[in-house]
Amino acid sequence: MDLENLRRSYEESSLVSADLAQSPIQQFETWFQFARETPAPDWLEINAMTLATAVDDRVSARIVLLKQFSASGFVFFTNYDSDKGQQLAENPLASLVFYWPHVERQVRIEGQVSKTNSETSDHYFHARPRGSQLGAVASPQSRSIASREELVEATMQIAAQNEGGEIPRPDYWGGFLLKPNRMEFWQGRPSRLHDRFVYEIEEATDDQAASENWSMRRLAP
Ligand SMILES: Cc1cc2nc3c(=O)[nH]c(=O)nc-3n(C[C@H](O)[C@H](O)[C@H](O)COP(=O)(O)O)c2cc1C
Repeated sequence: MDLENLRRSYEESSLVSADLAQSPIQQFETWFQFARETPAPDWLEINAMTLATAVDDRVSARIVLLKQFSASGFVFFTNYDSDKGQQLAENPLASLVFYWPHVERQVRIEGQVSKTNSETSDHYFHARPRGSQLGAVASPQSRSIASREELVEATMQIAAQNEGGEIPRPDYWGGFLLKPNRMEFWQGRPSRLHDRFVYEIEEATDDQAASENWSMRRLAP
């Protein structure tokens, strides 16, 4: 298979430091909003992001959905006993990547995760469709199962046990909040001369919260 000539020229936009917000979260909000508003195929999930985790002898990446973001950071929901959950318990440093091909942009985020509080996890768990709640309870995510039937059977059992009532959120399912310390914004440009800007947290001073103390610089593409 010849992949050598598979490439695309990025012509849509450019990025200069004067365009960038002081806080990378604000900048993320601007780009996220723009990506949402720009016409794209229906299948494109703007809030899908790659989550990378690492432990001593293993680095793993997978897609999860961004469900909230604010000045505190970026929230996704998952099974705490899954591979990613166990890796994050061992090493809470993680990385997120968004790629928005229709606007020729990438955002990379690095930071530390912590579990969201139970109110946040409960709220989102119960906001999901009932079928998704049942699936989350029934699935021992990342563990071996003998068959699909086993999973369907477990889902039906939990549905029967909770018929007509609220499905309780299990302790092993909830949110993670990634608090960023490095965020990079990449805008594709022609001839591989892309624009890249990185924000990094400076050492916090006593009178300034760390989250407000970002430096920003241009990087070579
Ligand atoms: C578009 C898309 C969205 C996904 N969203 C989530 C999610 O929000 N949470 C989650 O736990 N898994 C999500 N998954 C499944 C994960 O990619 C992964 O298969 C699963 O979480 C198990 O990963 P682990 O074994 O590394 O823990 C999504 C997959 C895709 C393709």
